[in-house]
Amino acid sequence: MELFGTLVLASIVLGLLFLIFGRDSSRYSKMPPGPTPLPFIGNMLQLDSRALYESFMKLKETYGTVMTVHLGTQRIVALVGFDAVHEALVQQADAFAGRAVSPLIMKLTGDFGLIQSNGERWKQMRRFSLSTMRDFGMGKRSIEKWIQEEAKHLTEEFRKTKGSPCEPTLFLSRAVSNVICSIVFGQRFDYQDENFVKLLTLVDENLHLFSKPISLLYNIFPALIKLIPGHFKKMLLNVNEIKQFTSAIIDKHKATLVSDSPRDFIDSFLIKMKQESDNPDTEFHFDNLHMTVLNLFTAGTDSTSTTLRYGLLILMKYPHIQEKVQKEIDSVIGQDRAPAMEDRRKMPYTDAVLHEIQRFIDFVPLNIFHMTTKDTIFRGYFIPAGTMVVPLLYSVLYDETKWATPHSFNPDHFLDDNGGFKLNPAFMAFSAGKRICAGEGLAKMELFLFFCSLLQNFSFRSKEDPENISLLPTSTTFVKSPQIYELMAIPR
Ligand code: HEM
Repeated sequence: MELFGTLVLASIVLGLLFLIFGRDSSRYSKMPPGPTPLPFIGNMLQLDSRALYESFMKLKETYGTVMTVHLGTQRIVALVGFDAVHEALVQQADAFAGRAVSPLIMKLTGDFGLIQSNGERWKQMRRFSLSTMRDFGMGKRSIEKWIQEEAKHLTEEFRKTKGSPCEPTLFLSRAVSNVICSIVFGQRFDYQDENFVKLLTLVDENLHLFSKPISLLYNIFPALIKLIPGHFKKMLLNVNEIKQFTSAIIDKHKATLVSDSPRDFIDSFLIKMKQESDNPDTEFHFDNLHMTVLNLFTAGTDSTSTTLRYGLLILMKYPHIQEKVQKEIDSVIGQDRAPAMEDRRKMPYTDAVLHEIQRFIDFVPLNIFHMTTKDTIFRGYFIPAGTMVVPLLYSVLYDETKWATPHSFNPDHFLDDNGGFKLNPAFMAFSAGKRICAGEGLAKMELFLFFCSLLQNFSFRSKEDPENISLLPTSTTFVKSPQIYELMAIPR
């Protein structure tokens, strides 16, 4: 009887295995190698959901730089190291330009907008967003002036602390967010504006919730969204509150729109909606407007402000680097005028420190997941259309063949023998190829101008001994943030 029971169980398991993995086996047999998956859970036992990128690095030792891994029943292809990521995103750009939309995102926001869309919708949203952001100053003098003005507000705010310890998150996010608000909403918000502060808190909270291992589990086993809904409900509540805020602003724009004189991104989108109102297939409709605005606002706020916050922590840990940057600021800019973009080429050390901050903090270690747009042959392997692809940015920014000391903070990574600035092609903090960050130019300008203004006006110190400052990130499933810390902004 016992033998019979075992046989029945074995055949059920084998049957399930065949059902799940046997179908289409010839189609998948030429996919890149990877660990053998278990039914339902795939390779979850080999993956650490709190530091997925480290698990991929370990698996690379056995399976190489292009591998197939199963997150539950979902097949994904992970690309490890500069060569593989560059080859896919740049040399086979079209094939790897799709976006994998996770079940969690699908339930929270759908596939509207720019970040999470594909095909014609993505092409139209990307083209329109880039050209409209340029119209409203991205990469130009006008936005430079706006950032300089905002930097003044930021330094005034720090000055009010009179050198006493403060937690810098909101200081930085309000300033950074006001830059994208100027382009998208045509206005900046007062730092004391309660709605604005609430909005930033919600955006920040959702990013943290999204980076928790439970969010990854939701994506792998979507049934969990119903079974353990608490975490999901909190995120949805936040998304809805954020949407209410942006909806109110869009409504105000609609009521005051002058068709031949757009004031900002929203006006331009509303005008385009009018122009295309007879086209039944138009992508210029309210859902795409709403989500693109939300995409620009969220992507444009947390990434840059977290980079500044992490950067200040790093400089408190390495005061000699902070002093060297300040010396360069003093000699090139001085104390009597605001930093300007044309100063950058005369400031190779500061430029190197900023690049090294972005490399070292590795803000999006797994990148935002991509997807193949068509059946693809990559390095002799077959990758079917619609396969989720993880171009591991951590493995590029920490590639031991590309950086002298990848695990230490070392501005020399971006300096030549004469102290001049030297770019490294493995600097892919903004990713590469067709999906490369749409706000790269804006982010670089903000980082330079805010960072220089802060260090021109203050020295940043910690209550702790620099030796004891930890640079370890708090969470690493999606984005890396520094531990919560306090700083003292000592006027210079
Ligand atoms: C330090 C700051 C920033 C970093 C490190 C960063 C990084 C990234 C990365 C890694 C991606 C994914 C690229 C890919 O899928 O291959 C991305 C996408 C994107 N970023 Fe940024 N970003 C930053 C700032 C900004 C800013 C200021 C904006 C605002 C305009 C922005 C808007 C976007 C958008 C809209 C996308 C989606 C592009 C698409 O799917 O076509 N980012 N960013």
